[in-house]
Amino acid sequence: MNPILVALDVPSAREALALADVLRGTVGGYKVGSQLFTAEGPDIVRALTMRGDRVFLDLKFHDIPNTVAGAITSASTLGAWMMNVHAAGGPAMMAAAKTAADTAAAGGYTRPIVIGVTVLTSMDAATLRAIGVDKSPLEQVVSLARMAQDAGLDGVVASPLETAAIRAACGPDFLIVTPGIRGGAAGDAKNDQSRTMTPDEAMRAGASYLVVGRPITGAAAPREAAQQITTAATSR
Ligand code: C5P
Repeated sequence: MNPILVALDVPSAREALALADVLRGTVGGYKVGSQLFTAEGPDIVRALTMRGDRVFLDLKFHDIPNTVAGAITSASTLGAWMMNVHAAGGPAMMAAAKTAADTAAAGGYTRPIVIGVTVLTSMDAATLRAIGVDKSPLEQVVSLARMAQDAGLDGVVASPLETAAIRAACGPDFLIVTPGIRGGAAGDAKNDQSRTMTPDEAMRAGASYLVVGRPITGAAAPREAAQQITTAATSR
């Protein structure tokens, strides 16, 4: 399938649906994050899924296992295709998330993809030390990715520069969802992203899906930008 997931980082359903309408057919799905979800609620997910779109609900659940399981159940019944939890919530929390996804599937819903967030890319070694983690960011990312895999999650979110190490550690079937796509077909504007790769570099490093926001949503011609990025990502 088309590996491009477009981050709908806009404040209203009106803007999100207008973008989705323009891009439909050129990308693999849409990411709804905390800004849009907090403004518009579950209706924005329903509106997209009713149009046949795949929705990655990026709410990064992080709570006790029972509460995270409930959130995964709610997101599954809403029709979200992919959703995520913080791997730092630990093995029991991730296992509860996986069980909730399996249970939703047994209840007739499409089995959602559940992935883990390892280390936020805004955190560096000093930030990790400040919260009591002495490992390097890359070591911590790989360690949490292994933990997510052992707990039964389907994959992780990872920065482009972490993707190859996770692919090596977790094997070919583990999903890696990679943001931070810039350069090449994604254009030269870095915005606030620093550790980036082009779409084709990220796919070669082992990414399964690429999350792309402003190189598409901020382009003068978003549909054409999406087509170029998809072509670059898939012509290996
Ligand atoms: O506009 P841009 O392509 O930078 O959007 C990237 C998307 O991926 C944003 O929604 C951002 O929050 C998300 N993201 C990221 N880096 C991470 C995790 C998520 O850029 N490590």
